[in-house]
Amino acid sequence: MLRRVETLVQRASPVFIDVDGRRVAAEPGESLAVALAISGITTLRMSPERGEPRGMFCLMGVCQECAVRVDGCRTTACTEPVRAGMVVETGGGWSD
Ligand code: FES
Repeated sequence: MLRRVETLVQRASPVFIDVDGRRVAAEPGESLAVALAISGITTLRMSPERGEPRGMFCLMGVCQECAVRVDGCRTTACTEPVRAGMVVETGGGWSD
């Protein structure tokens, strides 16, 4: 289980994002992939051929394993900063 460092770090007030209809607290500006992982959401998409769960891997925008939709547009969760009110869809077999 991942957790944020709670001591010796001054954090901004959390914002809320919508993840598949679920309200999730996150820190503004942090990586969406990290915010999802800390919230226990580790399956971000399904592989298009086998339908197997996929999640973050490289965390630097290269592998595309963390593909999600944010406000209707496909993106990589590890390169997307959290913004208040963003609407995130996971679990797709994104081919576009
Ligand atoms: S984890 Fe590899 S692109 Fe996001």
